[in-house]
This record gives sequence, structure tokens and C-alpha cells, in this order.
Amino acid sequence: MTTTFYPGDAYPVVLGRLQDTFSDWLQQRRPSKILLLCDANTRRDCLSGFLAATGLPANTPVVEIPAGETYKHIQTCTSIWEQMLKAQLDRHALVINLGGGVIGDMGGFCAATWKRGVDFVQVPTTLLSMTDAAIGGKLGIDFQKVKNTIGVFQNPAAVFVDPVFLNTLPERELRSGFAEVIKHALIGAPELWEMIRDFTPEQLSACPQETWLNMLSQSIAVKVRIVTEDPHEKGIRMLLNYGHTIGHALESYFLETENPLTHGEAIAIGMLTESWVQHQRRAEQVPDAWIRLMLRIFPHRNIPLDIVPDIWQTMQQDKKNKAGKVRMTVPGNMELDMEVLEPSQEEVRDSLLFYNNL
Ligand SMILES: NC(=O)c1ccc[n+]([C@@H]2O[C@H](COP(=O)([O-])OP(=O)(O)OC[C@H]3O[C@@H](n4cnc5c(N)ncnc54)[C@H](O)[C@@H]3O)[C@@H](O)[C@H]2O)c1
Repeated sequence: MTTTFYPGDAYPVVLGRLQDTFSDWLQQRRPSKILLLCDANTRRDCLSGFLAATGLPANTPVVEIPAGETYKHIQTCTSIWEQMLKAQLDRHALVINLGGGVIGDMGGFCAATWKRGVDFVQVPTTLLSMTDAAIGGKLGIDFQKVKNTIGVFQNPAAVFVDPVFLNTLPERELRSGFAEVIKHALIGAPELWEMIRDFTPEQLSACPQETWLNMLSQSIAVKVRIVTEDPHEKGIRMLLNYGHTIGHALESYFLETENPLTHGEAIAIGMLTESWVQHQRRAEQVPDAWIRLMLRIFPHRNIPLDIVPDIWQTMQQDKKNKAGKVRMTVPGNMELDMEVLEPSQEEVRDSLLFYNNL
């Protein structure tokens, strides 16, 4: 079964088997050249399946970059642009980003800036990118340890989501992506929440394709609704940053250590701590079911409180900030309803203490 979404009527997000959809779409586009971008892992685990499913020739040019967030920077872009130059990519070419959020964000950014923009297609291979990163046209790279600081908004020509790629995804990455599914459930999909609230790590790693299709369909629908309403993050799209103010700061901090957090692990801590600030101000408790699900899926990690000044400094660079105030966005009282909080450093510290004591 194939489901197609059209964020802002601008481009198709096609959920289903690649072999049923991709080659028809490509035939209509007729690009002058195709360049495939992979990282070392997606080249090893996803490329041959992608070529087989799409019927693209085995000698399709491939650019491979090292895997991981630590390579999401301008030097890697330079090497991608060098390969584009070598391949003589003209403005009618198509770049296919086969990978997770890092490949999609960075490959999209390189394509969007190459000769003032060539078309690109997102073929997400992680749960996180299937449900979130590949959709919505936010592209970019990290700069001096601050995440996604340099970038543009540019929609892809299409997004093809085929959960078959999850079969090779390491379990820790699968859980990481699940954080964004939880986020979508909490901000705007009560039915999805009911579906996942009792999930266990074992269920997650043994999920049949049908369940993935169902879960992805509900989760993608939330992202599509939001980016359609607010493509350039002037309002409700900021709600997708739930968990990301504290989460990004923790992710950036631990990226420099021997024990980094995955994006989703950091965002899960971010959702709990940011919700704690909101609930604390209302003299309420963070719902127990939220805490139980996050602790079941993500290993608890003690956060040393002496890093608070460091992460507070990173939070001061957050893109949502206004007039020098750190801002974070948490779900409001209704579906797709947002509350903007301006926390103090002490509240952030206390929220981490709350998390440490869980
Ligand atoms: N643009 C957006 O709207 C948006 C939204 C959320 C997150 N993001 C960005 O997404 C990034 C995180 O994405 P991610 O979690 O996908 O990280 P990632 O791209 O680094 O992928 C995680 C790891 O999984 C490997 N991998 C990917 N697919 C695989 C597969 N099918 N089989 C085996 N290994 C595979 C990768 O090589 C990598 O080692 C962050 O940089 C974040 O800022 C962007």
C-alpha cells in the first residue's frame, strides 16, 4: 500500500515500497544526470537494495562521506561540492540523498546551493529521517559546535519513505528515531500516542512492516500538517522543537565527549526536562505514562549538573531565542497547540535534577 502526502501542495512524500513508485516518478523528471549521496554505512547497507528497487544502473555515480553528526560541517560540504564539480553536475541534474538526517540535511544543503540550486530527492534510511528530518525543507550543517546554524529552507523534489531500510538500522539508532515519533504523538496525534504508549524496546526492534507503515503514516501526517501551515517556522512549526532546546544543547555537549548521546536520546531528555519546567510552573506533574515510555526506550543517563553553565551557553545560541531570552516550545492544552517558555538557568538545572532523580 502506498500513501502520498503533499506538504503545502509542493512535493510528494511517498510512503510505501520504492519499487512501486520511484521509477515512474523518475521517468517523468528525466534529469540530465544523477548523483547519489551516501555515508559509509548507507553505502554498505542500503545502496544495493536502493538500486535494485529503483532500477537505477549499478554504475550510477556515488559520493560517499564518513558517517555521523561529527561530519555535518562545511569541510564535508566542500568535498561534496568538489565531487559535484568533477561530475559536471548542471542545473538539470538530480541529487539523491540516501541516508539519515545528516545525509538529508547536508546533501540537501549542498544541492540547494549548487549553481543556486539543483533538484534533490530525500530517501531517508533512519526512523528519525523518515518521520521527521526528510520532510519540511530544512537543510543545513553545524557550525562551531552549534547545531544546524548554517542552512536554508528549500523543498526537495520528492521524498520516498520505504521502511525496508529499517531492517539494517542499528537498534540504538532505531530508538533514537522513535523519540521523534513520540514527539509527534505528544504534540498532535492522540491515536498514535495510544498505539505507542506501552511500546517496549523488544517490540520496537521486532516491528513488522505493516506496523511501521501505520506508525509512520500517523507520524508523518503530523509533520506534514505543521510544515504546511508554517513552512518557514514563524509560528506553530516551532512546536517541532519540543525537547530540542535542552536536547540540542545536551547533544552538542556530549558530542565532544567519549560518550555521545544520539539525537533522539538527547531529545527524549529534552522533552522530559522541558515538560518538567512547564508542569512545575503550573504546579502539576509530568504525566507518568510519558516518563515510563521514555525510560523504557532510552537508557537513563546521569547528567552532571556542573555542565549546566556550558549547556546554558549553547542554549543562548538557539534559533528560537528572541531579544536575548532563551525560549523553548512545549505542547499546549490542545492538539497542535504550543506554549512558549523562557526558562531561567536555574529552572534548566532543576529540570536536569528532576531527570537525574527519575
Ligand atoms: N531537517 C530537519 O527538519 C531535521 C529534523 C530532525 C533532525 N534533523 C537532523 O537529523 C540528524 C540526525 O539524523 P539521524 O538520526 O538519521 O542520523 P544519521 O544520519 O547520522 O544516521 C544515524 C546512523 O545510522 C546510520 N544509518 C543510516 N541509515 C542506516 C541503515 N538503514 N542501515 C544501517 N545504518 C544506517 C548512519 O550511517 C549513521 O551512522 C541531525 O543532524 C539532526 O539535526 C533534521
